[in-house]
Amino acid sequence: MLPFKTLIIVDKDAQQAVYLQIANRIISLIQEGILQPGTYLPGSRILADLLQLHRKTVVAAYDELVSQDWIMAIPRKGMMVATNLPEIKPRSFQQPQEAYQEEPGFSYNNISTQFQVKTKPGPKRLIINDGFPDIRLAPMDEWIKECRSIIRQPYNRRILVTSPAFGNLHLRNEMVNYLAGTRGLNIKADNVMVTRGAQMSIYLAAAMIIKQGDNVIVGNPNYFFANLTFQQLGANLLQVPVDENGLDIGAVEKLCATKKIRMLYIISHHHHPTTVTLSAERRMKLLEIIRKYNLAVIEDDYDYDFHYSSSPILPLASADHGGNVIYVGSFTKSLGLSIRIGFMIAPSKFIDKTAALRRLMDLGGDNLIEEALANMLSNGTINRHIKKANKSYWERRDLAGELLEKKLDKYAQFKLPLGGMAIWLQFNKKYPLTKVAVKAQEYGLYMANGERYSYMSTPINAMRFGFASLNEKELHTATDILAKVLKDRL
Ligand SMILES: Cc1ncc(COP(=O)(O)O)c(C=O)c1O
Repeated sequence: MLPFKTLIIVDKDAQQAVYLQIANRIISLIQEGILQPGTYLPGSRILADLLQLHRKTVVAAYDELVSQDWIMAIPRKGMMVATNLPEIKPRSFQQPQEAYQEEPGFSYNNISTQFQVKTKPGPKRLIINDGFPDIRLAPMDEWIKECRSIIRQPYNRRILVTSPAFGNLHLRNEMVNYLAGTRGLNIKADNVMVTRGAQMSIYLAAAMIIKQGDNVIVGNPNYFFANLTFQQLGANLLQVPVDENGLDIGAVEKLCATKKIRMLYIISHHHHPTTVTLSAERRMKLLEIIRKYNLAVIEDDYDYDFHYSSSPILPLASADHGGNVIYVGSFTKSLGLSIRIGFMIAPSKFIDKTAALRRLMDLGGDNLIEEALANMLSNGTINRHIKKANKSYWERRDLAGELLEKKLDKYAQFKLPLGGMAIWLQFNKKYPLTKVAVKAQEYGLYMANGERYSYMSTPINAMRFGFASLNEKELHTATDILAKVLKDRL
């Protein structure tokens, strides 16, 4: 008999279950030719004695190997290494030719890769992001509990085998209540489509509306992925200024009066990148324009749930807009987990057709995840989490404001946002962000260099200082590093 005691070493502290360690080791022994086809393995009791394990563990390992066809149970004889194993070819000593070169032989459509983020991995780096939630605050245990309980209930199995293109009906119904309670939206489940994040909703809605050469009004600056989406779909982008009261609605009206406008894209709360919110007056004026010109609008309200003033202005979608506002939102920011659930609210016929378009690229969402979210909405977990996270982010916004004012006063200006997860930090011209970002990396701090906020115009010397994902200590460290970089000669 082979010296199994030395050939199979198990680590009881390892993350991988012991029976899987044994099974995987036996597979390696077979692949290396140490255990030949037709060889009998020791009986489970004998191997368990040799490895000082419970017999059931060895039985589980053998069962695993049988289910993968590595070994077979021979009546009255025991476990034998399978005789019909896949042929193992000798390794070639020549350099194998890679199956794919960098470029294909054919030509293909050019999608801009301009804003792809490249950050070096590393445990010690500190990142100032664009405004992401803090994963450490996410309701992780509740999430795991929900998913586990759905999987365990036999009558829930149907959830695991279906994935509707409109999204899970339970979630759509829960969203009706949730959006009424938080945003004053008066809708039915037919008006809701669940998508993979807000980004998919923006793409789908735009693809349903825009044709090649159509005029689309966007803010200047604007959320870069929205611009790229509309450009990709053939739109002609008309940029309208954004000031401290949001999009310049006077300029929007002028364009509507003089040109054929197909669509307007607006981020009404915590505009990306500038973080400003559309004022109540402008909101009223814009609603008039929407009704007068029957203007198609995508209202992107990607992080509405986080606001730090007592009475947030309601979205355009909650007022009378003649059915012209496609409202887009997301749970990616609320949950702080990388769970890609967003939503689109629109007239039901538009939703029907949009679901048909979605099916062409994605047959449906993740039904288990959507069902779990529906349960968490109905049992109040999401509400409780948002309230708690909102309090932390509010404190972090205030602390970030204090630190930036104290340490970066000479170099940059900002206004505290009413909500959201970032501060729009505008640097003096003397301190180009392209250089600041490079220098900061030397101290282990990663941040955007402002390039992504300018679209077909001169680069903006500003960044979104995402405060929500940084705790007190990290906020101190990040602002210390920034201050040091700026104080040193760049
Ligand atoms: C303005 C804006 N809209 C949409 C999105 C996309 O959100 P999601 O992650 O839900 O796709 C983002 C992402 O940060 C954003 O900033």
